[in-house]
Amino acid sequence: MNVSNTTPSPILTLHRISKRYGGVTALENVDFDLRAGEVHGLVGENGAGKSTMMKLLAGVYSDYEGEMHLHGAPVRFSSPADAQAQGIGMVFQELSTFQHLSVAENLFGRLLPARRGLVDRKRMNHEAQMHLQQLGLEIDVTTMMGHLPVGTQQIVEIARVIFSGAQIIILDEPTSALSPPEIRRLFDFIASLKTQGKSLIFISHFLEDVLEISDRITVLKDAHQVAVLEAKDSSKHQLVELMIGADASILQQSYEEESQIAEEHAVGDVVLAVEQLTQQGNFRDVSFELHAGEIVGLFGFMGAGQIQLARCLFGAEQFDEGVMRLNGRSLNFHNTTQAKTAGIAYVPENRHDSLMLQQEIYKNITLAHLPRLLGRLLNQKAEVDIASTQIKNLHIHPPRPTLPVGALSGGNQQKVVLAKWLTQTPKLLILNEPTRGIDVGAKDEVMTIVNSLRDQGVATLLISAEPETILSIADRALVMRKGRLTAELTGSRLTKENLMTYA
Ligand SMILES: Nc1ncnc2c1ncn2[C@@H]1O[C@H](COP(=O)(O)OP(=O)(O)OP(=O)(O)O)[C@@H](O)[C@H]1O
Ligand SMILES: [Mg+2]
Repeated sequence: MNVSNTTPSPILTLHRISKRYGGVTALENVDFDLRAGEVHGLVGENGAGKSTMMKLLAGVYSDYEGEMHLHGAPVRFSSPADAQAQGIGMVFQELSTFQHLSVAENLFGRLLPARRGLVDRKRMNHEAQMHLQQLGLEIDVTTMMGHLPVGTQQIVEIARVIFSGAQIIILDEPTSALSPPEIRRLFDFIASLKTQGKSLIFISHFLEDVLEISDRITVLKDAHQVAVLEAKDSSKHQLVELMIGADASILQQSYEEESQIAEEHAVGDVVLAVEQLTQQGNFRDVSFELHAGEIVGLFGFMGAGQIQLARCLFGAEQFDEGVMRLNGRSLNFHNTTQAKTAGIAYVPENRHDSLMLQQEIYKNITLAHLPRLLGRLLNQKAEVDIASTQIKNLHIHPPRPTLPVGALSGGNQQKVVLAKWLTQTPKLLILNEPTRGIDVGAKDEVMTIVNSLRDQGVATLLISAEPETILSIADRALVMRKGRLTAELTGSRLTKENLMTYA
């Protein structure tokens, strides 16, 4: 039998799907199909409708127009459990792990059947360990989820969906918290799932990744499906054109450039000096200085200690030894309020740590500085005014201060996190993966803002595990490996290769 010329029939189809949130049209007459054993990439700018489409597939929303067929039969999932029961599993863009439960408990979603009324923890832990080992992961499964770095949590989350037995696996921005070696491992794993006949939908703003692992790619733009391409015949250039329209040539340039050469910037006085800072088990003997008007990258893979270091600088954790000085004054914060008062702003890696999703955009933006604002006339109008300026500066879309943050697309939520910290200009700004999961337009905007803060004399520490992020904006980069600073890179030595070598 010769099947090589026939197109495999899809196992899942969406036909003329439309979805509205109140007055917002998130999807309009969209068609989509998925084949057995296929990796189907899904790309589009922030707000294009990618997550919405996947949520319909995963049973999160059932109020849509159009038809869905699974294995040829019409379906309309009434709940995520319903979709799961029919073999569809989704890893959400926003981590949905249970922070206070162990890795094993998260992996199983529920506890294994009890024996004589007792939870069979031993068996659960053993099976969890085995599952993760198949993924090449060496994690202590009894660790509480909240104690793991976001990247590891992301992998556990993916593992959970995979081992729930899903036939169709949706990955919404799965790599944005992962280091390059972890991404490789995930891609290898995706390839092996494919050979088992599973189908995957892969959403990412990293177009090279999408081109590499997808068989076909669907492009969404402004709620519409604008193309379905064979990945092997497509280029990044082509995807960008379809995503943003042919007119946006500047944006296109930044999508396609790997990095820009940082210009030389005049730097001011030392703002932050750390001397032999040590936190037992996490980092040791870390010394460096940060000047006013300088952006310094802090590069390292997951678990190199950079996050703990940053959290110590912000008073969220304490260091054991060493000295930290801000504008010459030796400080040792016991909490984040002290750090905020001293002029330090910290944008954390997981945006949900600092957002109240049910609350209005304006409340989220003004929250970080309520005590200061309180001294003045605090009324809703004052808050909305402050927020409106930020919404405008950061191009938060839709520009409605009274909308709950949870109604924004992922990229726009990230802008709200930034906005929150920019209502007052800090002395020291610590950014932890500030452009994760946001499209290039938003990325450019964030970078422009960080640049303008540099011009205002802010000292910025930019933490990222993505070499491109650091190269695009940092004047200098520090590299950490296993809790130690291994390199300081400037000028022509500041290259992707060197970052990766020392990390
Ligand atoms: N719960 C909601 N209520 C109201 N509007 C929403 C809601 N969720 C999404 N939207 C809107 O629907 C549109 C599509 O959002 P969606 O999250 O699907 O975009 P996306 O392509 O996943 O973007 P991103 O790359 O930023 O994650 C956006 O305009 C968004 O603001
Ligand atoms: Mg999304």
